[in-house]
Amino acid sequence: MLCKLAFKSELRQGLYNFIIDCPEMAKAAKPGQFVHVLCGGSAYLRRPISICDAVNDRFVRFIFEVRGKGTAELAKAQPEQLLDVLGPLGNGFEVPEELSGEAVLIGGGIGIFPLLMLAKKLPQKPLVMLGFRDKQSAVMIREFSNAAKEVFVASDDGSIGHKGFVTDMLKSKIASGAKIDKIYTCGPVPMMKIVADTAKENNIECMVSMEERMGCGVGACVTCTCTMTDGSRRRVCKDGPVFNGAEVDFDG
Ligand SMILES: Cc1cc2nc3c(=O)[nH]c(=O)nc-3n(C[C@H](O)[C@H](O)[C@H](O)COP(=O)(O)OP(=O)(O)OC[C@H]3O[C@@H](n4cnc5c(N)ncnc54)[C@H](O)[C@@H]3O)c2cc1C
Ligand code: FES
Repeated sequence: MLCKLAFKSELRQGLYNFIIDCPEMAKAAKPGQFVHVLCGGSAYLRRPISICDAVNDRFVRFIFEVRGKGTAELAKAQPEQLLDVLGPLGNGFEVPEELSGEAVLIGGGIGIFPLLMLAKKLPQKPLVMLGFRDKQSAVMIREFSNAAKEVFVASDDGSIGHKGFVTDMLKSKIASGAKIDKIYTCGPVPMMKIVADTAKENNIECMVSMEERMGCGVGACVTCTCTMTDGSRRRVCKDGPVFNGAEVDFDG
């Protein structure tokens, strides 16, 4: 689908905030789903990027970091330009009608973006835990604060928030006796593994959003599989990207 780039900004160096005008997609989008964007230029590749938000049944927002040739090409797009975007793709996070305790959202690095729409859609404001490399890479804390009951921040070097792993904050929240009903996480695999293990040890349901390199994005090429604890392989683009954390073999 061709969608007009309605707004573009740079949140920090190399991190782009795009808002595209695409009512059909905005109406259908669920938190945790992604778009597959044709990046143009000589790269001519589609790249998967999480939907960060859908606004007014008209606009879809996504945020991406320049990593390689595809995202570098995409970053050159200008407002009013038409982008070729497939979506919304993937299953997305399950949003319950009610919660029997807190929902905790844990994101690391570029994994924080799909959690914003989820925070807005949950039946009650969640606890949000965000992990960054350092203060320079920390973004969107104010936006998350508006959608959350409380936001906790951690950084590797301690230049903002807790010094250490974002998962430390989950462990101390559980140790403090908080009643947690569901955990949702997206970010680096080692982080999600700790989150899923902690959830399992404490009998808390945990949904993880996996990231794999993709080809087609729609289930046909089997480039994007991840291994499950029963040995089966599932397609991140079609069966995921969201899976039950207890069912994913993070070492597979
Ligand atoms: C479901 C899903 C949602 C995503 N959401 C976002 C998002 O919201 N914001 C965002 O910035 N990025 C997101 N990504 C990651 C994004 O798709 C990659 O950064 C992008 O495809 C890199 O393309 P490139 O051509 O710029 O880099 P390439 O030239 O293809 O690669 C550059 C470097 O990035 C690594 N890389 C590329 N793709 C991936 C990947 N999928 N997982 C791990 N490493 C990779 C390569 O190994 C290489 O080291 C998401 C990925 C998936 C699968
Ligand atoms: S990317 Fe082709 S099957 Fe997932």
